[in-house]
Amino acid sequence: MGQPFGSYQNEIYFAGLSGVVPRFPMTFAELESRAQSTLPSSVWSYVAGGAGDELTQRANAAAFEGWGLVPRMFVGAAERDLSVELFGLTLPSPVFMAPVGVIGLCSQDGHGDLATARAAARTGVPMMASTLSVDPMEQVAAEFGDTPGFFQLYTPTDRELAASLVHRAEKAGYEGIVVTLDTWITGWRPRDLAAANFPQLRGHCLANYTSDPVFRSRLAHTPEENPQAAVLLWTQLFGNPLTWDDLPWLRSLTDLPLIVKGICHPEDVRRAKDGGVDGIYCSNHGGRQANGGLPALDALPAIVDAADGLPVLFDSGIRSGADIVKALALGASAVGIGRPYAYGLALGGPDGIVHVLRTLLAEADLIMAVDGYPTLADLTPETLRRVAGCP
Ligand SMILES: Cc1cc2nc3c(=O)[nH]c(=O)nc-3n(C[C@H](O)[C@H](O)[C@H](O)COP(=O)(O)O)c2cc1C
Repeated sequence: MGQPFGSYQNEIYFAGLSGVVPRFPMTFAELESRAQSTLPSSVWSYVAGGAGDELTQRANAAAFEGWGLVPRMFVGAAERDLSVELFGLTLPSPVFMAPVGVIGLCSQDGHGDLATARAAARTGVPMMASTLSVDPMEQVAAEFGDTPGFFQLYTPTDRELAASLVHRAEKAGYEGIVVTLDTWITGWRPRDLAAANFPQLRGHCLANYTSDPVFRSRLAHTPEENPQAAVLLWTQLFGNPLTWDDLPWLRSLTDLPLIVKGICHPEDVRRAKDGGVDGIYCSNHGGRQANGGLPALDALPAIVDAADGLPVLFDSGIRSGADIVKALALGASAVGIGRPYAYGLALGGPDGIVHVLRTLLAEADLIMAVDGYPTLADLTPETLRRVAGCP
């Protein structure tokens, strides 16, 4: 039997008998609006904003409205099991926290990476720690408790630095390397452009670089002595426009599971699979990178088909437990939460994230109960129908 995620609602209703109502919002809309009033405006714009007029970002979330789950009765789904085997790990649920580069800045104490890792420890929901963090990956991993963590690599142009980051992640106990392919260059982001704000250029979230022996060896003075030179070097090393010719090298860097993020075309799945990756991560970066694209959810069925048994992780637009269930039914092996946990962090540190994750999991679990799908294996594409009137 899996964990009773739905019991979060009993906790809330019973606390209500003593006059206690939840400290944190119960809907995404309220979470978003309260985060907006809590975060400094430059951080809010960076997190909430996306590429262009944000059409793709909105379409990511709206795409879930086009699908509906068909309820089945007389199933007696009194106990549900949301646990999943992934990359040799047993996870209590098929949910993880997607890498969010400025998560460090979203918490009131400025150490959001550590807060996220603590929330991972408390919930069993793995964190994918971004390359761009306020605290070095070793200190983040030290907060994971028994929950596995993954390291997300932005592959630098300096191969020795890339190898150093990966080997540090191995040593720190990360269970997989997620290579993000869609962000070797920053997409056109009008909200950040209007504020002329790019956090890394201001020296934020570069701890994995400034703590790295290879990065430091490339500088004439230490980053502590000359922070501006470190930022300048970072701008020169950050973005590597990888090609398929780089995949054998990436694969050779580690024996850990290698997962490639940003894949939305089945042909790319097949080539990545041929190149020996262990997992495909279907995502359009939450619409932050290229506007004018399809919702990531629309890409998912063909990606799952091409992956042909290889695990497929998915994110972009997950806002509710219902969205999680639909992505799983369309074939995702696990589902990534992005902006919602950043907003939870802004409102209440690790407690805020734990609340957001518990609400998402409770809703998913209760939908599976009500609709008669007690296990993840029961959630197949046949359980979904297109909503009438949706394109
Ligand atoms: C503020 C912010 C920073 C992000 N930084 C990273 C990152 O460092 N690495 C990465 O692979 N993806 C990054 N992403 C993308 C997320 O991993 C994920 O793909 C996206 O948030 C999903 O979209 P959603 O939040 O709208 O659901 C970031 C997303 C946001 C919102």
